[in-house]
Amino acid sequence: MVNRILVFLALMVWGPLSAREAVTPEVIIPRVASYTLADGSFTPAVGSTFSVEAKGADGAEAFCAYLESLSFVKDGTKKAAMRFKVGPAVLKGKPEEAYVMTIGKKGISVEAAGFDGAFYAVQSLLQMLHASEDGALAACRIEDSPRFRHRGLMLDVSRHFQSKDFILKLLDAMALIKMNRFHFHITDNQGWRIALDCAPEMVQKAAFGSSKFYNNILSRMPIGFCDVPEGYVTGTVYDDGRIYGGYYSKEDIREIVDHAAALHITVVPEIELPGHNRELLHVHPEFYCDGEHVVDNVFCAGNDDALRFFERVLEEVMELFPSQYIHIGGDEADKDNWAHCSRCRERMKAEGLKDEFELQSYVIRRIDKFVSERGRRIVGWDEILQGGLSDNATVMSWRGTDGGIKAMEMDHDVIMSPNTYYYFDYGQDAPYKEPIAFRSYLPLETVYNYDPEDMGGHLLGVQANLWTECVIDPGHCEHMFYPRAYAVAETGWSPAGLKDYESFRRRALVLNKWLMEQGYDCFDLEHEAGERPEALKETFNLAKGSKAVLKLGDGPAEDASILVDGYLGKWDIHSGKTWKNVRRKEFCADIDLGCEKDIHYLGAEFVDYPIRGYNVPADTEFYVSSDGVNYTRVDVPQARLSTGRKHFQIYTVGSPVNIKARYIRLIFNTGSTKFGCGISEILVS
Ligand code: ACM
Repeated sequence: MVNRILVFLALMVWGPLSAREAVTPEVIIPRVASYTLADGSFTPAVGSTFSVEAKGADGAEAFCAYLESLSFVKDGTKKAAMRFKVGPAVLKGKPEEAYVMTIGKKGISVEAAGFDGAFYAVQSLLQMLHASEDGALAACRIEDSPRFRHRGLMLDVSRHFQSKDFILKLLDAMALIKMNRFHFHITDNQGWRIALDCAPEMVQKAAFGSSKFYNNILSRMPIGFCDVPEGYVTGTVYDDGRIYGGYYSKEDIREIVDHAAALHITVVPEIELPGHNRELLHVHPEFYCDGEHVVDNVFCAGNDDALRFFERVLEEVMELFPSQYIHIGGDEADKDNWAHCSRCRERMKAEGLKDEFELQSYVIRRIDKFVSERGRRIVGWDEILQGGLSDNATVMSWRGTDGGIKAMEMDHDVIMSPNTYYYFDYGQDAPYKEPIAFRSYLPLETVYNYDPEDMGGHLLGVQANLWTECVIDPGHCEHMFYPRAYAVAETGWSPAGLKDYESFRRRALVLNKWLMEQGYDCFDLEHEAGERPEALKETFNLAKGSKAVLKLGDGPAEDASILVDGYLGKWDIHSGKTWKNVRRKEFCADIDLGCEKDIHYLGAEFVDYPIRGYNVPADTEFYVSSDGVNYTRVDVPQARLSTGRKHFQIYTVGSPVNIKARYIRLIFNTGSTKFGCGISEILVS
C-alpha cells in the first residue's frame, strides 16, 4: 500500500538538533486529549527504525507495511527509534483507537489497545514532524482517544463523478486527521456509479449523460467531456454534444475499500431508495407507479420486482463493502405517485398501512430485515423516522438536529450531520470570491462551533457531506473539504472542553499549508475575507423599530421587522436571520413610522442568487402616504451593483428624496420568468 500523501517523508532531511524550538503536540489536529511536556527533545533520523510487538492484537502485518510505505525501516531489536506495543492488555480498559505515545530523548514508544490506536499515534507523529522545521520533537507524553466512534465525510459522486484516484487521495487526507468513515454516495438521480453483475444495465444506461436523469442545475454547469465505453448508451445534455459521466468497476471499488482499510477507514456505501431514483427509472421504467407520475424519481412501493432489484443490488454491495453499516438513503421521497398508484394502494391495504408515510416505513423495514439477516445494519437519512422507524435503523440527521434528537429519544443510534453546520456544498467565504454554491455561507468557524449532545450513549458521531450539484472537478471538491473537514475531525475526536477556535485556526493554517504542498487544492484560509463587513455594524435607518409587514397576495400580513432593524444582510441569505426570503413573484412591504417624518432617502437592499431562486426584482415601486389610505408614487430609479460575481449579487435600489410621510410602501415583482426574492433592509433616512 502506498500512502500518497506521506511518501514525502522519505525525502525529508532531518538534520541535527538546532537551536529552533522543538515541536509540541499543540500543533495536532484533532487536538489530543491530553499531554504533558518533559525536558529535552528527540529528532528521528532519516529512515528511522521501528519495532512492533503485537500482544494478541490483529493487524501487525498491515501496520508494518504501512510504516514501511512511509519509509520507516523495520528493526526487530529493542533499539528501534519507534517502539510500538499493541494489545488489549497493553492499555487495559481503553478503546482500540486509544494510544499513549511517549517521546523521550532517545526515542518514541507507543502503547495501544489495538492497531487503530497505533495508527493514530503515527498520524499525530506525522503532523508534529511536518510542523517542525528540523524534525525536533519536544519530549512529551500524549494520552489520546476519540470522543466519538464515527468521524465521517460523505462524497456524492452521482451529481458529479470523481475518479478512483481522487477518492484514494481523499482517504489519505481523512486518515491524517483521524477520520474513520467514508460515506460513498454512489447512486442518485444524476447517475448510477457502480458496476454490478446483478444489474450491468445500470452503468450501461445511467452512468453517462442523459437528459432524462440530469436535472436543470446540472445542465447549467460547465462540465467537461469524457470518454464513453463502447456499447454504453448515452444521451446528451448539451446542445454542443458534450457527454459527462463515469462509474467504478468492482476492481475500483475493491481498491478503494482496501486502501481505506489500510488507513483504518471503513467505506460505507449508500444505495438510495425509494427516492432519488431518476436514473433507475430511466433504465427500468417498469418500476414506475401505474397512476399519474407527479414525480420522476420514486419507484413503486407496491412493486415487488423493484424491491427485489434492490435486494439483489444490496446483496452484491455487501459482498464488496465489509462495512457493518449500509446506507439506504430514505430522504426526500415524494409520496405523490404512491397516492395515485393502484399497486401502492393494494400494498397499503394488504399491510394495514394508514398512509403513504407508513408505506415508506414498510419499504425501509423490508430492506432493514434483508440487510439485518445478513449480519449488517442500515443507516438512513432522518426521513426514515416518518411513518415509524425500523427497529435496527441508525439515523443520520441532516435536516438540522431534530431528527437525530428524536431518534436518540427513541433509543436509536444517530450520526449528526446537520445541513446547518456540516453541508460542505455551501460556500465558505464571501460569495463574491467563491465558486457557485448550493447555499451562500458556511464558514470554518461555524462548522467548528457545532457541538453535538449525546443522549444515552446513542450518538455514534459526526459527519460532513459534500453534495456535488454545483461541485464539479477534483480541485473544487478539495476546496470545499479542506479545511472544514479538520473542524469536523476535531469535534469528532477531541474532548468537548478542549475546543477553542483561535487555537484550531492556527493549527488549520499549518495543516492546510502541508496539504497544499502535497497537491491538495485547499481553500485559502490565510486570505479568508470573512463575514460581510457592512452587515456587522448598524446602519442608520429612520424606520428602525417601526411596524413593518409583508403582504403576499391575499394572505395575512406577516411581520417584517427584520427589514427595518438597521442591519444589512449577512452572507448567509437562507437562514432568515438577516434576509427576508419571499417565495412569491410579487409582494408588498408596508412600514408605519408612527408619525409623519421628513424623509431624505428611500431605498432597499436585495440579493440575486439565481441557483436557489432568489432574484433581484424587475420592478420596485416606492409609495408614501400621510394617512395610510392615499399613497403617492415616489421616483426611486437608481440600481447599484454592490458585489460582483454573477452567481451572487447584492443590489441596492435607492434615491435621495425630499418628502414628508408617515407610511411607506414598497411593491416589487421579480419579473415574468423569476420566482422569489431576498430583501435585507428597507432604507429610510
Ligand atoms: C439530503 O441532503 N437530502 C440528505
